[in-house]
Amino acid sequence: MGKSRLVKALIEELVRVGKHVIVFDHSGVDYAPHFRDRVITSKEIAISPPTIASVIAEKARLNWQTFGEYLEVAVITYVSGDKKVRKQQSTQLIDQQPSAQANQVVKWDKALFTKHLVDSMRGLGARDSTVEKARLFIDYFIENEFFDELNRRTLSPMDIVNMALKSSPIVIDLSLDPELVVKQAIVADVIDAAWRLVKNNKAPLDLVFVIDEAQNYVPENEWTICGDVIETTAREGRKWGGLSLIVASQRIARDVRASIRANLGTVFFSRLSAQGDLREIAAYMDLADVSEATLAQLGTREFFVAGLMNPLRKPILIRVRDA
Ligand SMILES: Nc1ncnc2c1ncn2[C@@H]1O[C@H](COP(=O)(O)OP(=O)(O)O)[C@@H](O)[C@H]1O
Ligand SMILES: [Mg+2]
Repeated sequence: MGKSRLVKALIEELVRVGKHVIVFDHSGVDYAPHFRDRVITSKEIAISPPTIASVIAEKARLNWQTFGEYLEVAVITYVSGDKKVRKQQSTQLIDQQPSAQANQVVKWDKALFTKHLVDSMRGLGARDSTVEKARLFIDYFIENEFFDELNRRTLSPMDIVNMALKSSPIVIDLSLDPELVVKQAIVADVIDAAWRLVKNNKAPLDLVFVIDEAQNYVPENEWTICGDVIETTAREGRKWGGLSLIVASQRIARDVRASIRANLGTVFFSRLSAQGDLREIAAYMDLADVSEATLAQLGTREFFVAGLMNPLRKPILIRVRDA
């Protein structure tokens, strides 16, 4: 119906009035081609250790309740080169690359990490069957390339935020990371970096995050790696950090967590694909006499806008410009 084109027009307007914008382009076709010289591919972006632990748990289907803490400890001690548990590996690493000792850059490797995890779990007193399951499932479900690619991710999420603050928009093309959990990890870490900056600077950033195809990132009734930081941004971003969100999806309920959609200041809506969606919007917006029959007559590019952006108590019908 022209959602992504509407969002593209909103991005251009935000940039025009001096806001900073980071766009997460889920499939690399909606934004990257339109902002060509502003694109960064997500493959370059580093994933933080706690997020790596979540990605490993998701990929290997290891439930967080049992394995979360072990994975977090193992990933963090792996990257920090914890002496006690990594003695053997360190000597191996130094043999391979003499400079590794100096700047402690960890080389990600599936076999080395798995061995480290096993040692670390044993050290923490995990049961043999729990250790064995972790080892087996990582071996079975996670391919070597996942670990190899971690070595090539060198741009920090904080770099991305700083780039956007200098010159916007920044479009993160997520299409070369086909795995949803990795896309979610990038989204989580970039937004998290912005929050860290807000807390360190104690000054609002005036930064907007664009999350299209939101059903992949903040679906209802399903935990995702980036869900909580997006929810925090929806609830508290404007108040504390000058952080805002644009979320777009086909549907409102089901595609977007209730706690997020209840915190959206402005809603654009068009022909709705599901019955209950209009009632859903009506729960927190004054829709006057707009009905499903009215919406059924709308064409591509036509949207009603209601909420903070609209000074009237009636939704305004807009037509998105050529884009
Ligand atoms: N404002 C617009 N200007 C030009 N073409 C548009 C506009 N809105 C929609 N279109 C056309 O409709 C197609 C689908 O629009 P898009 O925004 O990608 O829809 P959605 O995100 O809802 O799937 C676009 O590829 C384009 O051809
Ligand atoms: Mg779209």
